Amino acid sequence: MGAQWGDEGKGKVTDLLAEQADVVVRFQGGNNAGHTIVRGDEVYKFHLVPSGILYPGKLCLIGNGVVVDPRVIIGELDELRRRGVDTNGLRISANAHLIMPYHLLLDHEGETKLGKLQIGTTRRGIGPAYADKAARLGIRVQDLLDEKILKQKIATALEPKRQSLRPYAKDPSLDLHTMTEDYLRYGHRLEPHIADTQRIVWDALDSDGLVVFEGAQGTLLDIDHGTYPFVTSSNPIAGAACVGAGVGPRDIDDVWGIAKAYVTRVGAGPFPTELDGETGERLREAGHEFGTTTGRARRTGWMDLVALRYAARLNGLTGLVITKLDVLTGIDPLYAAVRYLGPEGSRFDEFPYHQSILHKARGDYVELSGWHEDISGARRIEDLPQAARDYLDFIAEHTGVPIVMVSVGPERDQMIWTEAARRLQKVA
Ligand code: GDP
Ligand code: IMO
Ligand code: MG
Repeated sequence: MGAQWGDEGKGKVTDLLAEQADVVVRFQGGNNAGHTIVRGDEVYKFHLVPSGILYPGKLCLIGNGVVVDPRVIIGELDELRRRGVDTNGLRISANAHLIMPYHLLLDHEGETKLGKLQIGTTRRGIGPAYADKAARLGIRVQDLLDEKILKQKIATALEPKRQSLRPYAKDPSLDLHTMTEDYLRYGHRLEPHIADTQRIVWDALDSDGLVVFEGAQGTLLDIDHGTYPFVTSSNPIAGAACVGAGVGPRDIDDVWGIAKAYVTRVGAGPFPTELDGETGERLREAGHEFGTTTGRARRTGWMDLVALRYAARLNGLTGLVITKLDVLTGIDPLYAAVRYLGPEGSRFDEFPYHQSILHKARGDYVELSGWHEDISGARRIEDLPQAARDYLDFIAEHTGVPIVMVSVGPERDQMIWTEAARRLQKVA
């Protein structure tokens, strides 16, 4: 799970865990996600395809909780095949909802109308697609296989949107006939991948297999528990894995939260530890903090232990993976927020629910020593300078969650595996 505001390095971690997994499942979000995997000179950026696909034949599922833009998934499959990657293991839930051309237009329109108040969405149609799902006007992957049903459902879904879509009345992508034809074509192309994905997960679990659930976005972007309304339209927390993949809470043994050694956020909304000055710019440059999906510059800030503790509790984290520790090298001293300071001297030890407090909250920091040694070659905790180890210990202590892995660079091998992480691999 992403334990911050997204882009924590979930793709890299999932890729590593996927090696031993029988099944990898995406269970929420859509192609608003951008998950990067670096293997030598090859860089892969996945938006919908689960980050286990690079292992030939690995069962990679897109669960019922995901919203699927069929054009995007076909594009990803084409690109992977062009690069020689075997994509036969991909399965898409027949119950997953589709992103339609009008969802993209409505996302765009909604943001434009909000003007200065805009969320800064990825404009991939995510919010409107989940809205239609809740309104029972959604079109599902299985509908792609039946022309009559598809056309009828599109017509029904379009009807209540006429008013908002008026500015796009002449847009060819909105023509009922063209849309039906296009989506039937996508259906034909995706048919070999369409499956009862929950049954595949049950079979793997029932035969003691290892299933990795790959989160997208991050806890603070959760529509219920995040910084609403500056959130995404799904639940990027561990509980959602049950709903979005079709398993029970008791099927899940471990919940790992991925967190950067600092914090980034892309899009608008409160960010109590944000850095506007030189240090913020330095983090952006050193961490290449530009969005995988939209290319936007990510906002940067100090480690926020109030938000991370909140994420630990919400997800029931059993382990923390700290990524991008290498990016902090040379920044001395470092700061970590252990509480928030609000208006008129108020202090918050816990993540505040009140929107107007959160918008004004600023971090109350503890100063910690930085380090100057290059840590990108560290492969054991003992290889790290004492200041880096103290920094990690401070995070673990304040969240009450043990650190199971530490990432010190984008490459696969730039990872410190603790005993706990190795044990999981061995169990598999
Ligand atoms: P995700 O959305 O959570 O999968 O994360 P993104 O892929 O959007 O962003 C993480 C970025 O950081 C990617 O470009 C990764 O290649 C890169 N990355 C991951 N781990 C590390 C690390 O430990 N150090 C550095 N310098 N980069 C990393
Ligand atoms: P990964 O999986 C970071 C943000 C957007 C915006 C808000 C709502 O790569 O971590 P949406 O398009 O979802 O309606 O936009 O959520 N957002 C992300 N930020 N990483 C992501 O995914 C994100 N997916 C959505 O920037 O603020
Ligand atoms: Mg990302």
